[in-house]
Amino acid sequence: MHCTRKVNEDITWVGGNDRRLAMFEGVYSVPDGVSYNSYLLTDEKTVLFDTVDKAVGKVFFENVAHALNGRKLDYVVVQHMEPDHSATLADLLARYPEAKVVCGKKAAEMIGQFFGAEIGERARVVAEGDTLSAGKHELLFLAAPMVHWPEVMVTFDKTDRILFSADAFGTFGALNGALFADEVDFYGDYLSEARRYYANIIGKYGQQVQSLLKKMLALDIAMICPLHKFVHRKDFGGYLEKYRRWSAYLPEETGVMIAYASIYGNTGNAAEILACRLRDAGVRTQMFDVSVTPDSEIVAAAFRFSHLVFAGPTYNAGVFVTMDALLRDIAAHNLQNRTVAFIENGSWAPVSGKLMREILAPLKNLTFLDASVTIRSSLKEGQTAELDALCGAILATIERPAAAEVPAGEVDPAALFTLSYGLFVLTAKDGERDNGCIVNTVTQITNTPKRISVAVNKQNLTHDMILKTGVFNVSVLTEEAKFSVFERFGLQSGKTADKFAGFESAARSANGLYYVTEGVNALLSCKVISATDYGSHTLFVADLTEAKKLSAAPSVTYEYYRKNIKPKPNPEQVKRKKGWICTVCGYIYEGDVLPPDFICPVCKHGVEAFVRLE
Ligand code: FEO
Repeated sequence: MHCTRKVNEDITWVGGNDRRLAMFEGVYSVPDGVSYNSYLLTDEKTVLFDTVDKAVGKVFFENVAHALNGRKLDYVVVQHMEPDHSATLADLLARYPEAKVVCGKKAAEMIGQFFGAEIGERARVVAEGDTLSAGKHELLFLAAPMVHWPEVMVTFDKTDRILFSADAFGTFGALNGALFADEVDFYGDYLSEARRYYANIIGKYGQQVQSLLKKMLALDIAMICPLHKFVHRKDFGGYLEKYRRWSAYLPEETGVMIAYASIYGNTGNAAEILACRLRDAGVRTQMFDVSVTPDSEIVAAAFRFSHLVFAGPTYNAGVFVTMDALLRDIAAHNLQNRTVAFIENGSWAPVSGKLMREILAPLKNLTFLDASVTIRSSLKEGQTAELDALCGAILATIERPAAAEVPAGEVDPAALFTLSYGLFVLTAKDGERDNGCIVNTVTQITNTPKRISVAVNKQNLTHDMILKTGVFNVSVLTEEAKFSVFERFGLQSGKTADKFAGFESAARSANGLYYVTEGVNALLSCKVISATDYGSHTLFVADLTEAKKLSAAPSVTYEYYRKNIKPKPNPEQVKRKKGWICTVCGYIYEGDVLPPDFICPVCKHGVEAFVRLE
């Protein structure tokens, strides 16, 4: 029985899903299967965009017949000749002998190679900029060589502004009923498989992907229909931005990917210790045992992170087999612009560090750190300094360079009070424990995707919870918020008090976290996509998973709070004291000189929040 979905009024998805395939292309694990997309346009003419892998041929032919609804097939556009999209082409042409094949010159040659010259000669060859009218729909053909094979072209439906993008913008995984990316949490739940697909399938061809992206700029694209997984019809700017970064080999995130091979656990032990030290320094890490995790996942992580550490034993006077294979895979995918370090092990003649470096040496713009660690069988307590040096070398490249050449003027902290900060209750949950704090640093970054940032003081318990769980809520406070809310969430520490004890103005959002229900006008639920260490604070960048308006009351600004909500300090008491007053909570530091690293013991704001008592 057929299984189709409408893409729009004139276009139907007629592809199929394969969940029995273990290894895509025989090399990439696909635990969630894979979809082979094919699309049928029914206009005055009928046009099929690509066919499918033979594994789903039966349902595909039922789908095509159903979508044609008794009509003949006029054209089949062959955009890509890899058999996952063309294995059923000869069968299709046998079933629909009147159908004309539309493809590029190279594809016509490949059709001959795969199916015999007779079928190859049936092709109507099109080139860059050629068009085909299907009636209401005019189709424009654009070459996309090496995205992923040399014959690839993409097709732009100028009428509905749909790009049939071949392999580009595909994702691993079978469709689970949802054809459109906006039917799921694409950025939260599927971006990792989109990245793994990109890095492994077309990651080697960044320059060619950039050429395609450049062509796409000239098109006003409303929808992208790839040959694998989701159709993108809303908010795909974030995905395009990922493609820009991936194809330019720019890391998505500052952080360290640590991949280790370990025969008896000793090399792994060193890698674990390094990861702990980097985390202590607030650096994001992701670890892999290369003998356990498929290379495709590690290659994808290498495309994601800015820093790569490879830890591997010497084996047969070379690099341990699984590490050797991984490094050659990364080299084959042309990764660039990364900072790289090594940990080597060898019980009698350690050489793996040098050899691992040699494998990656041909890649462009890799910075190899001189600091490295050599293990003789197992790491010793006496090697702490070596590991510290490696950790320090990594941290030195993560910290922003000082702007030494910029002439320094006077920095007046009061100038910062001119910024119109809002005030928010930031909440998080770790296990059964809820906590929240007041912040003034929530800012929207992008609209597509809906993405915000928030800087959180590391001394706050909420900070640690967000770092651990990657999830938080923002309750946007209004001018109607009571001072008691600021007292509850801003003037006591979650480390010593349960801030939600006896608090009735709270409810749980879809993510299970609390948000404040009174004196607020909006809830933003967020999932962290990056965490960057800025000394006293961590800057979290996060995508919205839920957002709703709760009232029409105006949002409170920090200025409004100071003038109208915060009780004024007792003037007589203040007059008697000398020193500095925290403008956030009124705490007074008595002394002539405010230490530059002073943190308000009550509200945890730094020296920038203090003004001298006159
Ligand atoms: Fe999905 Fe390059 O084939």
